[in-house]
Amino acid sequence: PMQRQPLVIANWKMNGNRALVAELSEALQQQQAHYADVTVVVCPPAVLLPVWQAQPGVVALGAQDVNEHADGAHTGEHSLALVHEAGAQWVLIGHSERRQCYGDSETRIAQKLGQVLADSRFTAVLCVGESAEQREQGATFAVVEAQLSEALAQVSACERLVVAYEPVWAIGTGLTASPAQAQEVHGFIRHWLQEKFGSAGAAVQLLYGGSVKAGNASELFAEADIDGGLIGGASLQPEQFVAICTAAQ
Ligand code: G3P
Repeated sequence: PMQRQPLVIANWKMNGNRALVAELSEALQQQQAHYADVTVVVCPPAVLLPVWQAQPGVVALGAQDVNEHADGAHTGEHSLALVHEAGAQWVLIGHSERRQCYGDSETRIAQKLGQVLADSRFTAVLCVGESAEQREQGATFAVVEAQLSEALAQVSACERLVVAYEPVWAIGTGLTASPAQAQEVHGFIRHWLQEKFGSAGAAVQLLYGGSVKAGNASELFAEADIDGGLIGGASLQPEQFVAICTAAQ
């Protein structure tokens, strides 16, 4: 089977502060030998990117979102160039919270993703996933497939693409998809990527997100198409997050 490097990404959402940057950075530095083969990325609120940038570099940095325009009259937004100056080399695109609450339509997500993938300094992490209602209706694969095909319609190469499967019902709820439930969707995404991108699709790292904790990370990461995790709440607890990184090793 294809060897893909394990990847763990912290999504702090609108949480954390300067003190937590120092705390998590120190915990990660101390334990680095335990997750030496894992790529670790932290996506803090954008204003904390420069604070992370000033820490000894054991992690890569990511933005939680970017505006689809290069510059201009977009009050409150951040461009790709700005987050790059602040140290980000990764960008989350299409998180369910942005889809639900902040106007990230399929069209905007495709624009944002296209912009990030066109810039060779960045890797894009496209987030997809169904709601509880959609799962109950048996629409999980259809929803994920529609999200993938709309976001990637104009994309012809997947070298700097990561896909994160985050079932909406598992985000911040304490309900985790079982390893088998997660693998079923990851396998579907893998197959879809290989259909679209050929053998390059086999190299795309696929992350699971949704109530990943130190206690359930190992069994999730043991699945064939789960290459790591996108971690919300547990990334705010240094001990938990380090344990999750270690579980990905
Ligand atoms: O992007 C990470 C995410 O939405 C999962 O959050 O708190 O369930 O780990 P959480």
